[in-house]
Amino acid sequence: MSPEALRAVDVRKVYHGRGSPDVEALRGVSLALRRGERIALLGRNGAGKTTFLRIASTLLIPTSGQIEVFGHDVVSSPETVRPLIAVVPQEGKPFFHLTPREQVYCYLRARGIPREDAKARTEAALEKMGLEEVADRLSVTLSGGQKQRAMVATVMATEAPLLFLDEPTIGLDPFARRAVWDVLRDLTRRGCTVLLTTHYLDEAEALSERLYIVEEGQILFEGTAEEAKRQIGGTLRVSIENGGNHRERFASFGQSVAEGNSLHIITEPGRVHEIMDVALREHLSATVGPVSLEEAFLTIVGRSIDAE
Ligand SMILES: Nc1ncnc2c1ncn2[C@@H]1O[C@H](COP(=O)(O)OP(=O)(O)OP(=O)(O)O)[C@@H](O)[C@H]1O
Ligand SMILES: [Mg+2]
Repeated sequence: MSPEALRAVDVRKVYHGRGSPDVEALRGVSLALRRGERIALLGRNGAGKTTFLRIASTLLIPTSGQIEVFGHDVVSSPETVRPLIAVVPQEGKPFFHLTPREQVYCYLRARGIPREDAKARTEAALEKMGLEEVADRLSVTLSGGQKQRAMVATVMATEAPLLFLDEPTIGLDPFARRAVWDVLRDLTRRGCTVLLTTHYLDEAEALSERLYIVEEGQILFEGTAEEAKRQIGGTLRVSIENGGNHRERFASFGQSVAEGNSLHIITEPGRVHEIMDVALREHLSATVGPVSLEEAFLTIVGRSIDAE
């Protein structure tokens, strides 16, 4: 068997509009996941994350390029690939006329998992996702977060070798979010490979062993969150409120990135007092903190993750 869980080479996707212009959603994406890794695709709205996941999970044909899952081509051998993967789609909803307990169990049975095993895995997944109390209610009556948890429970219970999760924690409260993170860590410890998309920087940092930053259909960065932060040339960030119009004034202190009205200067500890002096003289308020993935993202992409 191939040593990699997934390998994508130069994947391109053009959506042909009917009467509207074509959209180049992916412009040559190459990436690889080793077995047992947790990897995040991090990118703004419209970056191409879902398009990539749909191609990798055999739901969409790429315009060109190739994706292999455990050595099997997703376009020419989708039947071989499907039993090896499970997907939490973006904005996926559980079956309205089933309860979470029925949905998880039926899905496992449909995938060929024997009765007793399916039963045990269903109970474990419901418990892990905190769904015991609503497990026998029709999904149509669940809250948005409960529905999302039912989707994650369904997919985690499969323990498929490769799991795709498209923004799995959207709409979840902080406790449920942490539960999903724990579940994903546990799955990879047991040998599953996880590819998730997110536009939560803290999630990408807390959860993924490596991340890919995707922007306009291209990979702009590949590595750990630490590497992303190191790459931007400094360990501290001085944020200057309303500093946007004073960029020149601070140019000599290090790389600067604008976010809305604020100016962030990436610098070293030795230079902070000089920057604070200048800010003070200009009557600007400034705060100091460690460089975060946010600044790394701003620097690499040139725009904030939630900018329109
Ligand atoms: N069926 C489609 N037809 C035409 N264009 C599409 C289609 N699906 C997606 N797109 C476009 O392709 C680009 C990438 O979309 P995609 O859904 O992959 O982004 P995303 O990174 O998942 O964004 P989000 O964070 O909002 O979920 C966007 O410009 C989108 O409008
Ligand atoms: Mg998406």
